[in-house]
Amino acid sequence: MKLRLVAFGILFGLFSCKSSNDNKDNLSTSSPDGKLNVELNLNASGEPYYTVKSNNKTIIDTSYFGFEFTNAKPIKDNLKVIHVKTDSYSETWEMPWGEQRLVENNYKFIEVDFEETVAPNRKFSVVFKVYNDGIGFRYEFPEQENWVEALIKDEHTQFNLTEDYKTFWIPGDWDIYEHLYSTTKLSEIDARSYIPKTNLAQSYIPENAVNTPVTMVGKDGTHLSFHEAALVDYSGMTLKVDSLNLSLKSNLVGSENTEYKVKRSLPFNTPWRTIQITENAPDLINSNLIVNLNEPNKLGDVSWFKPMKYTGVWWEMHLGKSSWDYGMEMVEGKWTDTGKAHGKHGATTENVKNFIDFSAKNNIGGVLVEGWNTGWERWIGFEDREGVFDFVTTYPDYDLDEVTSYAKEKGVEIIMHHETSAATQTYEKQQDTAYALMQKYGMHAVKSGYVGKIIPKGEYHHGQYMVNQYNNAAIKAAEYEVAVNAHEPIKATGLRRTYPNIISREGLRGQEFNAWSGDGGNPPEHLSIVAFTRMLAGPIDFTPGIFNIKFDEYREDNQVNTTIAQQLALYVVIYGPVQMAADLVEHYEANPEPLQFIKDVGVDWEESIVLNGEIGDFVTIARKERETGNWFIGGITDENARDIEVDFSFLEDNQNYEARIYKDGKDAHWDNNPLDIDIANYDVNVTSKLKIHLAQGGGFAISLHKK
Ligand code: NOJ
Ligand code: CA
Repeated sequence: MKLRLVAFGILFGLFSCKSSNDNKDNLSTSSPDGKLNVELNLNASGEPYYTVKSNNKTIIDTSYFGFEFTNAKPIKDNLKVIHVKTDSYSETWEMPWGEQRLVENNYKFIEVDFEETVAPNRKFSVVFKVYNDGIGFRYEFPEQENWVEALIKDEHTQFNLTEDYKTFWIPGDWDIYEHLYSTTKLSEIDARSYIPKTNLAQSYIPENAVNTPVTMVGKDGTHLSFHEAALVDYSGMTLKVDSLNLSLKSNLVGSENTEYKVKRSLPFNTPWRTIQITENAPDLINSNLIVNLNEPNKLGDVSWFKPMKYTGVWWEMHLGKSSWDYGMEMVEGKWTDTGKAHGKHGATTENVKNFIDFSAKNNIGGVLVEGWNTGWERWIGFEDREGVFDFVTTYPDYDLDEVTSYAKEKGVEIIMHHETSAATQTYEKQQDTAYALMQKYGMHAVKSGYVGKIIPKGEYHHGQYMVNQYNNAAIKAAEYEVAVNAHEPIKATGLRRTYPNIISREGLRGQEFNAWSGDGGNPPEHLSIVAFTRMLAGPIDFTPGIFNIKFDEYREDNQVNTTIAQQLALYVVIYGPVQMAADLVEHYEANPEPLQFIKDVGVDWEESIVLNGEIGDFVTIARKERETGNWFIGGITDENARDIEVDFSFLEDNQNYEARIYKDGKDAHWDNNPLDIDIANYDVNVTSKLKIHLAQGGGFAISLHKK
């Protein structure tokens, strides 16, 4: 019966929908379980505000909202309520790929329509959806006489908090999210004095603001995370910090080229402003609020994209073993081989074949090839980047025909790479040709990159212009059955539900910083914060799996700051439908035992359960592979060693599993002894419990195969 209901829900989208009312005196609604409550109101000047309570405790106190425009008076006061609608909704929908297959989407909502009591009597609405694990709200601007276009100078949405929360934040950079998280009290956030110790190709932090998701923990264990959902044709939102009043306020990313930050024709809706509200840290990860607030799949069947692990010509460039560029010269506007090849070029036919062989042997579906196309000689640091990269012309030592047919023979897919160098017009012009080339060769995934300051000058990575660039590229790619994994992206806001070819993205300090950053790389606590901040937004292309932790033969001053067991754990802890096995083939071949885990681990999940965790300290996640029903578990810790008990009560009854456990060795330590790993087999079932010791900067990974 349950199964049939589920099928019905997917088909028809709707389980229940209670009818609306029009009671203008009661502007409130609650979550389906009654624990969260939202109330709206107007003050004596007709200014609208809202409050949020959780278990009767005020989480968001009187918080006003409104808009400023460059072509009209602000909308903020002299408003009256003209209509109210409340409703509830319940459905179960299916993810084509994901951290779980079925997603429940249950909420109550309230829509309040406002109108100005004075000329020009403009109208707008606010809609709140209240879930058991948080809220989302957005503004809707209906079609109306005398108002055709909104030039938004800024959106003023307040989030007035009632406690000086412990906050995990990155600065409100308009250009990049690749910063280390700081942990401070809300009142102590100081984003302007945050100076990255690493040279970033782009960075602009104009205000004391933070980027989202920003996550907080209260004294009574309340967990909050602020973000946004369905960021479409609008600017990214940073949150400005008012330390004195313990308040956050929306501060949209702007442009140097226009006075307004967003330009929209009416009718339009803003993205959803979201607050996840849970009683513990694991439930933040368990929450589906962000994807649920996005519209259903508009692409239909995307089975041409298969979630996969991949290797690639990548880490070797970051280590300096090989290079992206070949050593060509620009002659009369054309990249030409003038005999200056330096011999370090990485993307050669031979090297790629080596990765293909390795992937084929190790149950890894893809090979990423960076540096295959002309243009890399004029990349980072060059002002003039339009017309430089070309997304169809290979370097002379890379034979696309040969490589793709060899890969096909071996059952491996080549992953395309498009480094746009943030020269957006060059990329836009070539997209059709570039994606058509991929289609011709049967390539279904592209990693794109946007390193450097945006051209046209004056635009920022997170403003409306770029939001449209990223979204339009993905929508166009879908026409060619191409899925996109963007680096230097706009943040994830759950659009993968609507466009399931948006598979993954960077948008954080990834593994690459361990190869070259001048600030010691990612500290051991990094990913135990990321799991509860950046990861709440959506899939991450972190590129785990570095076995040669110290890589002294390449860079003596850099290293990965985790144990090898933690590198394995990341395949389960960090979710993404494409997961790189990032290290060099020779480093894997030298370590066949831990490699077995990468070979076995799944990448597409029926179900995920966060077993335990505290933000910035540790986290353990179990995931069940869709195809096989095998389970995989990953656990990581910060710079502190700790003992974790894994309770296997989530396993199926009456089923025995062979568990292979990869854990830190007795003397393991992220810095002194990162390669010490213990690998052992156990029989487990639903009644089993297992104590595991995690070293400083360590972790563990478990594969559970049905017996
Ligand atoms: C930055 C990306 O994060 C990295 O993965 C890539 O190798 C380089 N850009 C080159 O595109
Ligand atoms: Ca990057």
